[in-house]
Amino acid sequence: MASSLTFLLLSSLVIFSLTSHAFSASLSPYFYYKVCPKALPTIKRVVQDAVRQERRMGASILRLHFHDCFVNGCDASILLDQTTTIDSEKTAFANNNSARGFEVIDKIKSEVDKVCGRSIVSCADILTVAARDSVVALGGPSWQVQLGRRDSTTASRTQANNDIPSPFMDLSSLINNFKNQGLNEKDLVALSGGHTLGFAQCFTFRNRIYNETNSIDSKFAKQRQSSCPRTGGDSNLAPLDQTPFFDTKYFNNLVAKKGLLHSDQELFSGGQTDNLVKIYSRNSWIFSKDFANSMIKMGNIKPLTGNQGQIRVNCRKLN
Ligand code: HEM
Ligand SMILES: *[C@@H]1O[C@H](CO)[C@@H](O)[C@H](O)[C@H]1NC(C)=O
Ligand SMILES: *[C@@H]1O[C@H](CO)[C@@H](O)[C@H](O)[C@H]1NC(C)=O
Repeated sequence: MASSLTFLLLSSLVIFSLTSHAFSASLSPYFYYKVCPKALPTIKRVVQDAVRQERRMGASILRLHFHDCFVNGCDASILLDQTTTIDSEKTAFANNNSARGFEVIDKIKSEVDKVCGRSIVSCADILTVAARDSVVALGGPSWQVQLGRRDSTTASRTQANNDIPSPFMDLSSLINNFKNQGLNEKDLVALSGGHTLGFAQCFTFRNRIYNETNSIDSKFAKQRQSSCPRTGGDSNLAPLDQTPFFDTKYFNNLVAKKGLLHSDQELFSGGQTDNLVKIYSRNSWIFSKDFANSMIKMGNIKPLTGNQGQIRVNCRKLN
């Protein structure tokens, strides 16, 4: 009895320390609890206002966080403007004329610094929390965000070009790309479910709707062709799924060969991720749970902590 109790206690200690190390050295959900209890409610309020003004903004902020984390960790590097010493990520292929939401992050930062009375909340934490609050504002699941990230003093357009996945990738390249970030196939499928929100520009799916006749529903292809001509209209928008809120429509589409991007349809194309796509298409609870778990995992990629980096006063430039 005593020994099995000891075993239980020990094994839960081991699990606890393993998970806390595997995920993050010194992040904690309570990082700002004492020093600025108003920080998180303030982020939520500004995100809600922004989404009320324009629903798409929630999608744009979620994507901004993803593009931050995939380039040398979640360190707000994507927010830095170009200077003689900063190689801005804003003009990388995946971001140029595409990444949006920077003004909302600026607004959050200034409101948070105002309620805290000084600059103690990092831009990287703000972006991570704002992504969660965006998903919630659009009807998705919530989760507890680990906090204590610090902001980078560098950015890299080259690394952004190399590390952010392209919509023209096939399944094995997508799996590899996520693997390089410590994310597995389940994370790839669950996080791609972020495409239940937001829009894509014509040039990102043109080849798919005109050339990929074997893997696309022909009626859907025609529909999309009507607002995405063979030439011109490069920046015309189409929704990534047909509903403006967080649901499993994206996965239903994949099963019906109505994925908008080539990379979307790759997840249901006869490969090893087909089964998970089917599961998510039928069960929103499992999708929501896995999405939340994978968002936590993505948010914990290579954080700067302790006295690494800095807490930027202005998210767009170094102190
Ligand atoms: C799996 C690899 C991925 C690829 C290849 C990819 C690619 C793209 C592309 C090409 C667009 C359209 C951009 C434009 O036309 O301007 C887009 C939009 C978007 N992506 Fe992804 N994405 C991927 C994963 C993710 C992940 C992991 C998330 C978040 C969890 C995400 C969230 C979004 C959102 C919300 C939008 C809409 C943004 C808006 O309307 O402003 N994507 N993605
Ligand atoms: C980014 O877009 C701008 C405006 O369309 C364009 O002039 C510039 O060449 C692009 N930059 C890169 C690096 O592609
Ligand atoms: C379709 O594929 C052909 C051959 O690869 C290519 O030349 C053409 O530009 C593609 N069409 C569209 C609309 O992307």
